[in-house]
Amino acid sequence: MQIYEIYTHESSIILHLYTQIKFLLKVIDDISSLNHSISSSKSNNLCVGLVPTMGALHEGHLSLVKLASTQCDLTIVSLFLNPTQFNDKNDLTNYPSDIESDMTLLENEKCDILFVPNTAEMYPNGLITNSYELNGLDKAFEGAKRDGHFDGVCTIVHRLLKITKADKAFFGQKDFQQLAIIRQLVQTLHLSTDIIAGPTIREKDGLAMSSRNQLLSKSQRQRASIIHEVLLKAKHLYGQLTISAILNQIKEHIDTQAEMILDYVDIVHSHSLEPIKTFDYQDRAHILIAVYVGKVRLIDNLALND
Ligand code: PAF
Repeated sequence: MQIYEIYTHESSIILHLYTQIKFLLKVIDDISSLNHSISSSKSNNLCVGLVPTMGALHEGHLSLVKLASTQCDLTIVSLFLNPTQFNDKNDLTNYPSDIESDMTLLENEKCDILFVPNTAEMYPNGLITNSYELNGLDKAFEGAKRDGHFDGVCTIVHRLLKITKADKAFFGQKDFQQLAIIRQLVQTLHLSTDIIAGPTIREKDGLAMSSRNQLLSKSQRQRASIIHEVLLKAKHLYGQLTISAILNQIKEHIDTQAEMILDYVDIVHSHSLEPIKTFDYQDRAHILIAVYVGKVRLIDNLALND
């Protein structure tokens, strides 16, 4: 009995100490130091995981870091605000950034390396992007609304995968089209990195976590939860009403909200992202949406038949 009590007491102290430990985070800003830090993991056949980010980290990013650290021996988080994926200069200028807070958040996770390169390191030949064959996945939705966006995303992700030699790279399902495109990119280029998807992390009221949420005013932030509400409504109605009736209901609902403008909404095949015209219970379907809340453009999606 005594021993049990002592043991329990000691283990709770150990547990307490364990939760207080901050993991040693190496911050690296150049490719050659990064290569040097990864080399022993690579030569020992350890699994290297990459979580690419543009900073302004939130629980969504941290959930990917947690996933990476459970699946990999070495976890690298990259933080690079990639200029070539912004078609709108104001969007780039206003994009939130707080490196101090990002580092503090990562110190509490099992992140081994934070890679924070500058623009010259990532684009030594200037801000030039490549075009990739993406099986048409890049043509609609974000690709149609944001000219050159996916060329920018693919160029930087390709470069990050090459630099880090990542065995696994982790992306959030919130950017559903981006995830499909990166899977296609890896396939097109015959890259050996496994692309791992992490679930969308939501606020209590359902709003998908996004760095851009910080840019919302208090009233806009309250209203933004409507985006998730309409997705849930679509899920409920899917198979009961026609697709166009569901989409019309959503359009009408969003358009009657102050400060909200619907950019697009559609129901698509989950793999091809081709719009679904009529319900078929065998199709795996997703609803994709983009909404302006004031000047802030938010995207979200939901599986309709999971
Ligand atoms: O999803 C993002 O934050 C960015 O598009 C990514 C994948 C880090 C590329 O810059």
